[in-house]
Amino acid sequence: MKRTLLIIALLFATTFSAFADKGMWLPSLISSRIKDMKSKGFKLSAEDIYSINQASLKDAVVLFDGGCTGEIVSEKGLLLTNHHCGYDAIQALSSVENDYLTNGYWAQSIAEELPCRGLKVDILVRMEEVTDRLAAGETKADIIAKAEAEGVGYRATVESMYYGNIAYLFIYRQYSDVRLVGTPPTTIGKFGADNDNWIWPRHTGDFSVFRIYANENNEPAEYSPANKPYKPARHFKISTEGINEGDFTMIYGFPGNTQEYITSDAVEYIAETSDPTKIALRTQRLDIIGAAQAQSPAVRIQYAAKHANIANAWKKWQGEVKGINRLGTYSKKVAYEERFRKENPEKAYLLDSLAAAYERNREGYFNYELYTETLRGIELQQVVNIARSTRLSDEQKMAAAELFYKDFVVAVDRDLAKAMLKAYAEMGTFISAELKALFEAHGGAEGYAEWLYDNTKLGTIEGFDLATIESDPVAAFVDAVAPIQQRIRPYTYRNFSNIPDIERWFRPYVKALMEWDKKRAFFPDANLTLRVAYGKVAGYEYADGEYHLPQTTLEGIIAKDNPDIYDYNVPQSLRDAYAKKDYGRWGVELNGKYTVPVCFIATNHTTGGNSGSPVLNKYGELVGINFDRTWLSTMSDIEFDETLCRNIICDIRYVLFVIDKVGGAKWIIEEMGV
Ligand code: ARG
Ligand code: GLU
Repeated sequence: MKRTLLIIALLFATTFSAFADKGMWLPSLISSRIKDMKSKGFKLSAEDIYSINQASLKDAVVLFDGGCTGEIVSEKGLLLTNHHCGYDAIQALSSVENDYLTNGYWAQSIAEELPCRGLKVDILVRMEEVTDRLAAGETKADIIAKAEAEGVGYRATVESMYYGNIAYLFIYRQYSDVRLVGTPPTTIGKFGADNDNWIWPRHTGDFSVFRIYANENNEPAEYSPANKPYKPARHFKISTEGINEGDFTMIYGFPGNTQEYITSDAVEYIAETSDPTKIALRTQRLDIIGAAQAQSPAVRIQYAAKHANIANAWKKWQGEVKGINRLGTYSKKVAYEERFRKENPEKAYLLDSLAAAYERNREGYFNYELYTETLRGIELQQVVNIARSTRLSDEQKMAAAELFYKDFVVAVDRDLAKAMLKAYAEMGTFISAELKALFEAHGGAEGYAEWLYDNTKLGTIEGFDLATIESDPVAAFVDAVAPIQQRIRPYTYRNFSNIPDIERWFRPYVKALMEWDKKRAFFPDANLTLRVAYGKVAGYEYADGEYHLPQTTLEGIIAKDNPDIYDYNVPQSLRDAYAKKDYGRWGVELNGKYTVPVCFIATNHTTGGNSGSPVLNKYGELVGINFDRTWLSTMSDIEFDETLCRNIICDIRYVLFVIDKVGGAKWIIEEMGV
């Protein structure tokens, strides 16, 4: 408790006059920020944001599919998130005959909503600090077990904040009957695709609509036709008033991972070694998959989600390196560390210990990252793992294999294996004797890959036979990779700095920073727990003399529209609406034209996981759905800079316009009470 009080006291003690719009704050501690929020225009109270005594905004925010955010927008559990967050579910429901990616889908009534196998959402019941319980000897597992016994469908986690200086328990209700209500076609939901991804100005209608179902007691339940729409304690009211430059905005969601406090050594590793290596490897993989997709419409669908996932981080890392260089993050960290040393000579050893720990673990972490980007991506290994599973019955194994082969093309995997084995052989230093022997027996890594795919029977589902799989050469390949997995295990952490041998030095270092740097606003790094970030709608100087306005419109979509390019070929209904200026209630005067607003940017501090997050105005009403950041601001995971960093939001008025004019699904708009 003492430690905690100290940290809270520090949070309060800081002089609040002019905070930058930086930080991702724990909702239960938001009272420490509310003064600053109000000075920037916010009209609600801390209790409105988070309360365990009454319904609050937190009851309308969900963790979507374990890695995105969603928001509840009706009293019948209607849910908005990004198109790219619903993508896996939409793709799984799609086939060449019923291609919801290409054509979109709009249920015309509740009866037409489509169950999404495996899709789950988590709604936070409450969060509470458990630093003392852990200090008193309770284990994480005990705390979690007790919490999960509290209610039906409860899921709990214990997460550390500030590198283990404090710990929090999060208790969720996990709902597993979630159904697709509507999605725009990819040419809207993913308009511009990888080309426009991470880019501003942007024109992507990145949204999709789902609904949560519950049992007759409103509790989580597996899918059943008897389930009823979930009745939330609270849902977001939608504002169609729109936003203007300078308006207060708040984001409520589940940011996944930031590294605000890492030292210069880690920045150097990211910008000079890790990102460049991963970018180069992914370029190869994307070229291989992209070439196969260009040849076949079936492969285009089969590999759509895989391609998008690989391309997303690939492009993000490129922007991150650019942003780090542009802001001089490495030199700034070096200077900050020098100042810390000078003013805290008795604690300078912490920085030395950190530097030594990074050095000690560098080879291991690099090999872990290399394994992840090369060997792990060779998909054929998965069928051996399915066959060997001790949890699955034979019937379940066949079902899992069917799911796997639905989106698998052996010729693509062969090319990927060839390239990735070669790359691993060149760069990996944790290679196993077994894998080395296999390479040598077949004239090197590439020769081995050829031989492997020539000789396996597992290329198609017809060859998947539980009785004979152990004699397939892919089984021997999996066994040869296993010792590598063993060796990288001690380094298998989300970030370099989270390796325990490094992190143990971060705990006293961050504490020392908090005691020393009184002007800095210390937020706990993102770790996929619920957070609030706030800022304002703002354009920015993209380059010298080049200012980017904060809002885009339908004009920009039509300007990019091109029937010959898959990703820019908008639906005819959109062209028709534009030609007739048939905007109904969604038309506005903006950027000097009568048009429809599409996207906007703001200074909210966000990261991966914030996709789909509700973007709220000063009254806590929904004005947009967060979905991206600008390219150079992806480095806000390491250093947030208000002049450069912007999150990208889909304007709720564009969402409504698309549901209305492209989807023709007025009933959804009515249900949202608009
Ligand atoms: N960049 C966004 C995010 O990090 C959107 C990703 C999906 N879109 C894509 N083209 N891959 O998740
Ligand atoms: N698109 C990201 C996501 O899936 C959000 C963008 C970001 O990283 O800020 O969460």
